[in-house]
Amino acid sequence: MSRILLTGSGMVASAMASEAHMRGHTVQALPHGEVDMRDLPLLRRRVSEFRPDWIVHTAALTKVDYCQENPREAVEVNTAATKALADLSQQLMARLIYFSTDYVFDGTQHLWYESSPTKPLNIYGATKLEGEIIVRKFFRGHVVRTSGVFGERLDGKQERNFFRAIASRYMETEGQISVVDDQHTAVSYAPHLANMTLSLMTDEHFPKIVHLTSKGFDSWFGWAKLALESACLDSGRLVPVSCENVNFRTPRPRNSRLTSDIPEVVSLIALHPAKQAVAQYFGKVLQELREEAEIRE
Ligand SMILES: NC(=O)c1ccc[n+]([C@@H]2O[C@H](COP(=O)([O-])OP(=O)(O)OC[C@H]3O[C@@H](n4cnc5c(N)ncnc54)[C@H](OP(=O)(O)O)[C@@H]3O)[C@@H](O)[C@H]2O)c1
Repeated sequence: MSRILLTGSGMVASAMASEAHMRGHTVQALPHGEVDMRDLPLLRRRVSEFRPDWIVHTAALTKVDYCQENPREAVEVNTAATKALADLSQQLMARLIYFSTDYVFDGTQHLWYESSPTKPLNIYGATKLEGEIIVRKFFRGHVVRTSGVFGERLDGKQERNFFRAIASRYMETEGQISVVDDQHTAVSYAPHLANMTLSLMTDEHFPKIVHLTSKGFDSWFGWAKLALESACLDSGRLVPVSCENVNFRTPRPRNSRLTSDIPEVVSLIALHPAKQAVAQYFGKVLQELREEAEIRE
């Protein structure tokens, strides 16, 4: 059994913590409220005290528009803290897993493999790519790229993700809901990511860089339609729109379908279909929103 240190307490960290506990590992999470990634002395102290075998670095400034408007903070959280953790991993002889993103790509290809050329379109993608470069130089470092994460947070804060946003818009308005239909991606249920990551951690040959998502690709419109139909809601309220007609404040990759060229990883992903996970998670969020609405009435 291993000692696993998790940075952050967001969707991926929450799922990693609960899956790792179930597998008998000793887990320590460092939520934002306890350790700000920009406070490097505190970060170093807390990690060293725990003496982890693995550092799973999930904490990141994930708000794409916020990163664009606050590039210095994005560099501090996404890149500088990653450098500090890579150095610490070296000192502590721990292995480091760094969660990264499909936003390191420019979206001009149909499918993106681990070996595909990176070219971020925005500050978020650029700062995450800088983190990747640091981790990849470190021989005990591994990069896990993922996309469209959804799942619960277990730290009492409300998670932010596409399906929760669609559920809120459906419940709070009665009109049409515009969703882009020319931006394609895989979505990733956080417990799927945790399960696949922990499986790879028991493998001597954890890849240096790996793409992990749930199984399946669609446009955001397609994912929204699937979610509403899984809950028997009116998907006719969804209106497909082109990215060109949406005023995104920050450029985003059009096509970020992550896939893998590692056969073992392809088999792992095949065991984690997105469709059922979307239905299950979306149903749970709707239930929560209905209960909140009842309390308000
Ligand atoms: N979410 C996605 O769709 C997505 C897609 C591709 C890749 N990824 C990558 O996957 C990883 C995990 O993301 P997630 O989906 O779990 O996102 P998340 O739910 O937004 O969690 C991000 C975590 O980082 C923490 N954090 C942010 N700024 C921090 C700071 N200055 N100091 C300490 N902690 C800080 C957040 O804390 P608070 O929320 O409490 O402030 C939260 O615990 C990230 O590295 C991200 O780049 C995510």
